[in-house]
Amino acid sequence: MLILGIESSCDETAAAVVEDGRVVKSSLIASQIQTHQLFGGVVPEIAAREHLKKIDPIVRQALVDAGVTLRDIDAIAVTQGPGLIGALLVGVSYAKGLAIASGKPLVPVNHVHAHVHGAFLGLKIEPQELFPCLAMVVSGGHTNLYFMTSPTHFELLATSIDDACGECFDKVAKIMGLGYPGGPAVERLAANGDPSVYPMPRMVSQKSRLAYSYSGLKTHMVNLWQREKEHISEQNRADLCAAFQEEALHQIVRKFGTALELRPETKSILIAGGVAANKRFRQMMQEKISRPACFPELRFCSDNAAMIAALGYFEFKQNKHPNQVWDAFSRYQY
Ligand code: KG4
Ligand code: ZN
Repeated sequence: MLILGIESSCDETAAAVVEDGRVVKSSLIASQIQTHQLFGGVVPEIAAREHLKKIDPIVRQALVDAGVTLRDIDAIAVTQGPGLIGALLVGVSYAKGLAIASGKPLVPVNHVHAHVHGAFLGLKIEPQELFPCLAMVVSGGHTNLYFMTSPTHFELLATSIDDACGECFDKVAKIMGLGYPGGPAVERLAANGDPSVYPMPRMVSQKSRLAYSYSGLKTHMVNLWQREKEHISEQNRADLCAAFQEEALHQIVRKFGTALELRPETKSILIAGGVAANKRFRQMMQEKISRPACFPELRFCSDNAAMIAALGYFEFKQNKHPNQVWDAFSRYQY
């Protein structure tokens, strides 16, 4: 079964064709990062206008790259939310128009849940063998931990009580003048740093509490930077990034210990979202966690449409929501 996926929730316009929720026939992403870099972060109005320019050519090209036409597509899946409302409206309105004109079913997809499916793409084993699993989405907007018993069953176990992990990387990079997006820049500098030079506060330190927090760590970094910035050496900048990165990621690794005590039946762990691209994170998980951890290919960590088509496939197979009355303002669970 072939699903056309469309994504426009933030600053990437993306389209993909995926077969049976697993085999990526094409996946195209038009990133707006260069446009938003001028402003140090995503400007919602500009994002929506850029999506308007890109969405039609990118969908057409995704079909061409997959060697199919719209006639071969079984259903269209589109990001319904969460995301920037102006940006979402472009994708949702476009997908609705395409679905009506072509007579194809339209499946609304939750963007955060879809990130988890980024980790399934290209896996050699059947997803069924991974369940029950703990699935973590660590992105610029979310730090969510789910318990999953099937590809479409997401039980939210924990979330951040304030900032998201990726958002914290972005803010720390911004105050240090490292540019946007911050995560890759912090990771690059941290690779040459010694994390023990700057002790960091430990957030949500109670072992039994399943929640994440990043605003305290961010405030600590802001204050530290104010004190140090005038006389900091290149090496100490790297040390600071390494210390921050270590605590930001270690918090997530620690909480997996708590979650595994709560759900000992867990067979595997999936990590998804932009922060899953971080190599130190992958290394920490491999070292500290007693279950096999799956990370997506780098191209499926950050926003893409293949993950939307993948979850759309499983939802469509269950006949969940196609062509019901919904829009980008409808409430969704995440
Ligand atoms: O999943 P994503 O592309 O978009 C959202 O849905 O938010 O995630 C983007 C986030 C940004 O905050 C970015 O700084 C972070 O992922 N990120 C990283 C790395 N690559 C991207 N954070 C840490 N280390 C990285 N290598
Ligand atoms: Zn995302």
